[in-house]
Amino acid sequence: MSDDDIRPGEVAVTLPSVTDAAVYFIGRIHTPWTERGACPRTGDKVDGPECRIVVDRRWAQALTGLDQQAEILVLYWMNRARRDIVIQTPRHSGKTLGTFALRSPVRPNPIAASVVTLLGIEGTTLRVRGLDCMDGTPLLDIKPHRRPEPASDTQPAP
Ligand SMILES: C[S@@+](CC[C@H](N)C(=O)[O-])C[C@H]1O[C@@H](n2cnc3c(N)ncnc32)[C@H](O)[C@@H]1O
Repeated sequence: MSDDDIRPGEVAVTLPSVTDAAVYFIGRIHTPWTERGACPRTGDKVDGPECRIVVDRRWAQALTGLDQQAEILVLYWMNRARRDIVIQTPRHSGKTLGTFALRSPVRPNPIAASVVTLLGIEGTTLRVRGLDCMDGTPLLDIKPHRRPEPASDTQPAP
């Protein structure tokens, strides 16, 4: 059975004929895993392997100040996942649940999210620990994991 086959008890629906929005892939994620089955189910931001997030040069200025963050939220596009399955039975659990009750990459909009440790930034390449996706997975967005502290001149007077 391939990763794309539907399992007994799973349910697929017909996808809408048009999409409602477009996204820009802003870079690519590089990891040691070349197959879905080889990826961890969830990244390990302490003991996981070092991975690289390569942001396209166009967005270089958008990285300004990110090096102050110890942890960042990475959003990425699970480009190899089916989008039409609403009831699914993930291989690891064997439990049948609705898509929105799962963190499975198989979903109408295959957006994945991970909080990762930021090890360093060189140019537009981020070195991180804590990812769980295949090598070459498209990057959607990067955000600080915690809201930045307000600047001292915007603090209320004591
Ligand atoms: C369970 S998902 C979790 C993703 C993310 N941490 C989240 O919670 O949104 C991680 C799994 O997605 C699968 N996967 C990884 N890269 C993928 C890709 N590019 N396309 C489709 N599936 C992928 C692998 O089986 C991996 O173990």
